[in-house]
Amino acid sequence: MKQEIYLDNSATTRALPEVVQAVSAALENNYGNPSSLHGKGVAAERAVRQARAAVASLLGVKAEEIFFTSGGTEANNWALRGVALSHRRRGNHVITTVVEHPSVLRACQELEAEGYQVTYLPVDRTGEISPDDLASALTPETILVSVMHVNNEVGAVQPLQQVGALLRKREPKPVFHVDAIQGYGKLPLNPYDLGIDLVSVSAHKIHGPKGVGALFIREGVRLKPLLVGGEQEANLRAGTENVPGIVGLGSATAAARGRMSQGLEHMRGLKTALASRVMGEIPGTRLNGPSPEQGAPHILNLSFPGVKGEVLIHTLETDGIYVSTGSACHSRRNDPSHVLVAMGLKKKELDGAIRFSFSHLNTPEEIDMVVERLAEAVRDLRSL
Ligand SMILES: Cc1ncc(COP(=O)(O)O)c(C=O)c1O
Repeated sequence: MKQEIYLDNSATTRALPEVVQAVSAALENNYGNPSSLHGKGVAAERAVRQARAAVASLLGVKAEEIFFTSGGTEANNWALRGVALSHRRRGNHVITTVVEHPSVLRACQELEAEGYQVTYLPVDRTGEISPDDLASALTPETILVSVMHVNNEVGAVQPLQQVGALLRKREPKPVFHVDAIQGYGKLPLNPYDLGIDLVSVSAHKIHGPKGVGALFIREGVRLKPLLVGGEQEANLRAGTENVPGIVGLGSATAAARGRMSQGLEHMRGLKTALASRVMGEIPGTRLNGPSPEQGAPHILNLSFPGVKGEVLIHTLETDGIYVSTGSACHSRRNDPSHVLVAMGLKKKELDGAIRFSFSHLNTPEEIDMVVERLAEAVRDLRSL
């Protein structure tokens, strides 16, 4: 059987065996409704409580501040709409960045259509915002600032500490939301230390199931529910809990917590090795994003001018190597990545961009194989 080398872990990850086991046990045995008063309900409720405690402990927050959702997209939509609607009387200005995930950008566009004003902060060549730009964008009308932790396309890590410090000086302080979906379980993030009020996370980026995530809502922060109905999740997110998914998120979170520092070191090693070898061996390679030693440990974006990214992806796939051109959310369309455009890439660099994203399951041998096949593929495609 051909070896499979999966380097698209920012799009999604393979579920860990212990996660599969936990999800399957919840589906088969622990199938009660957490709202039921009998033993089956109580057992399901206990499983949800354990998962909540696991997520809370990874973030270093209280369990009552974790609210389960149907994934990162819902958590981001909820954070933006929920805060905008409940703070409408105080102001109508929202600040975000040009490099956010579409689940934040589209939610902002919806708010604009409803009369809110949104400022989109620019980024530099490495994909980072400048705290000075944020300082000049803040107005007395600003109710919400949403800045992602790790960019999903280039691995840029935003200066959240400086953002938090700036917002803490404002009175009243705008609500600070962080889309931490790419950093969760990989890079430490403590909302209390950084003055963050809302944090979105998603299970399928950390070897958990798809379609489940959570929003951290700091005690005392007001936001309207997106889904109304039953009284689940302290009356803030209606709907019977996705117990198997939530259990899977809890199990994946516990595993991520256990391997956090070794995982970080391991992925950083793979990323720096791949970057330095490819840049040394393939002429014209351009690094998009921060230097491999900085930035997130697991995302590397490179351009091979003169080669079409989509074609390179399919060529590598014939060797069992899975990578992507950028965000999975719009990689089926041909438009260039909004993140790379915002970073000022030229047409040829945009066309030839590829994202490699690692997990703790990847190995140095896989990197050797990828370098070899990539060098051959780029050479062949350039000579066509
Ligand atoms: C930065 C970021 N935000 C939000 C999302 C959406 O999360 P989900 O797929 O769980 O809806 C993703 C996933 O692609 C992401 O990378």
